[in-house]
Amino acid sequence: MRTTVGWQAVRAGNTLRRVSLERRELRGDDVAVRVDYCGVCHSDLHAVRAHTDNDDAPLVPGHEFTGVVTDIGREVARFAIGDTVAVGNIVDSCGTCAMCRQGQENFCYEFPTLTYSGTDRHDGSTTLGGYSREYIVRDQFAYPLPTGLDPAAAAPLLCAGITVWEPLQALGVGPGSRVAVAGLGGLGHLAVKLAVALGADTTVISRSTDKADDARRLGAHDLIVSTDEQQMTASRDRFDVVIDTIAVPHDIDPYLRLVALDGTLSHLGHLGPVTVQTTDLLVGRKKLSSAGSGGRPATAAMLDFCAKHNVTADIEIVPSKHINETLERLERNDVRYRFVLDMSDLS
Ligand SMILES: NC(=O)c1ccc[n+]([C@@H]2O[C@H](COP(=O)([O-])OP(=O)(O)OC[C@H]3O[C@@H](n4cnc5c(N)ncnc54)[C@H](OP(=O)(O)O)[C@@H]3O)[C@@H](O)[C@H]2O)c1
Ligand SMILES: [Zn+2]
Ligand SMILES: [Zn+2]
Repeated sequence: MRTTVGWQAVRAGNTLRRVSLERRELRGDDVAVRVDYCGVCHSDLHAVRAHTDNDDAPLVPGHEFTGVVTDIGREVARFAIGDTVAVGNIVDSCGTCAMCRQGQENFCYEFPTLTYSGTDRHDGSTTLGGYSREYIVRDQFAYPLPTGLDPAAAAPLLCAGITVWEPLQALGVGPGSRVAVAGLGGLGHLAVKLAVALGADTTVISRSTDKADDARRLGAHDLIVSTDEQQMTASRDRFDVVIDTIAVPHDIDPYLRLVALDGTLSHLGHLGPVTVQTTDLLVGRKKLSSAGSGGRPATAAMLDFCAKHNVTADIEIVPSKHINETLERLERNDVRYRFVLDMSDLS
């Protein structure tokens, strides 16, 4: 085994502690990545807060990172030592099922191997995430970082970016589409930037006007205050696509009412049971959908698109040793719009 250093959840403490971690020796198709920057996703926060004394498996979060290849397995032809790469929230899949064959490894019938708290397909170990100085990943699930993309600001593209990119693409968003993005956080601000770059008429739905200036700066054309019933009523049937990235359980009916005839509400933010008033779907033949992460082709296409259109996250870089305060700030919604951990303090 190789050893590295990372941030692991302390049992029941709801905090992370710096520990020494074991990484596997390289398999033939593995690359070793020195993790330079890792985004802090709200899913990491959910995972740390849900971690309890009853969990035997170690939790090291982090599933959107960039870094430099430091070593390659003997079969690796896609990468060379010194390449800058990006890794997202999926690090392996079966490769043979109907989903994998059509490039939707994120929906692998055998379940894709998640970057952390997943189960390695070969040795059964629990995967440990990118809040660490080194990650070993199958070469097929590392992506060359296009030149021109800042490695720190690009890291969040690998979870927040791809999670909103796939539905925008699948729902045919392009010039003239009317798109609303509910929740202006990590996912939300990238959804706005990507929708705007795709040519959509884009509106933010936020709980107050606090982020109105930011929404405009990100390229949004309008902002609806979700707590203002009048504004919500006035926007009935207004959008072809509503991307819901709200990080807490919430009633989706008010958002369905904003969807236009034959339009879609893509519910991405809080995964879990929702109650739907079917007449809110019936009237207007509306569709309710969801998505998560992305397949390899879509991830590569998203990175190319971002390089062409100069799309990266608005970030605040923090030394990784500040991870616990950073999670608290994310919990308080004190983030504009993604924290990225600088891992160099682990060397
Ligand atoms: N589908 C997937 O595969 C996938 C992938 C990544 C993340 N996620 C999930 O997506 C969600 C968003 O992640 P993120 O990293 O973008 O989080 P984030 O940066 O914290 O943003 C979430 C946004 O939700 C809104 N919000 C927060 N608390 C709220 C409340 N109490 N009531 C109403 N709105 C509230 C806020 O928007 P306003 O301040 O503008 O109202 C906030 O900016 C999380 O639940 C995360 O786990 C899902
Ligand atoms: Zn994430
Ligand atoms: Zn598969």
